[in-house]
Amino acid sequence: MIYQLTYRSTSINTINTTDLESIHSLADKKNKKLNITGCLVFYNTKFYQLLEGDEQDVISLYNEIKRDHRHTKIELIAEGLTKNRIFPNWGMAYYPIAENRCNKSEFKQFKSNLLLLTKLTTSVTKTELNFWKQIKKALSF
Ligand SMILES: Cc1cc2nc3c(=O)[nH]c(=O)nc-3n(C[C@H](O)[C@H](O)[C@H](O)COP(=O)(O)O)c2cc1C
Repeated sequence: MIYQLTYRSTSINTINTTDLESIHSLADKKNKKLNITGCLVFYNTKFYQLLEGDEQDVISLYNEIKRDHRHTKIELIAEGLTKNRIFPNWGMAYYPIAENRCNKSEFKQFKSNLLLLTKLTTSVTKTELNFWKQIKKALSF
């Protein structure tokens, strides 16, 4: 069985593109090695992540992520077992510049792409459902 977990957190105020890129490249390597797939979305100072794989591996990675100083207010949203993964790989979706300093039309595009993703996805488990629900909710503000 595949274990899935989803949480939400708030980035620190000083988070920058370099931080996001280093999380991205490190997680790319490490998750592949652990056969952990999933998705990390960064939107409007919040992180939304779904991780899936072997239960012990996912839990120990989550415990490591919780200790990371680049985010706070980590809240576990849902967890559980399933037969099939929703994500075939691990990926990350973020717009590299803070909303107030960025190209407005590019940011709008990023937002509508994310919204499209939430509408395209068919969730099987409550973990998947809650992951997308959190993102949809954030996009509606
Ligand atoms: C929001 C957030 C999500 C993260 N997601 C992952 C992840 O999926 N995989 C990963 O290896 N590290 C992730 N990290 C980084 C870890 O917290 C941590 O830096 C890393 O696991 C340390 O690995 P090392 O001790 O092997 O260098 C994430 C960090 C943050 C802030």
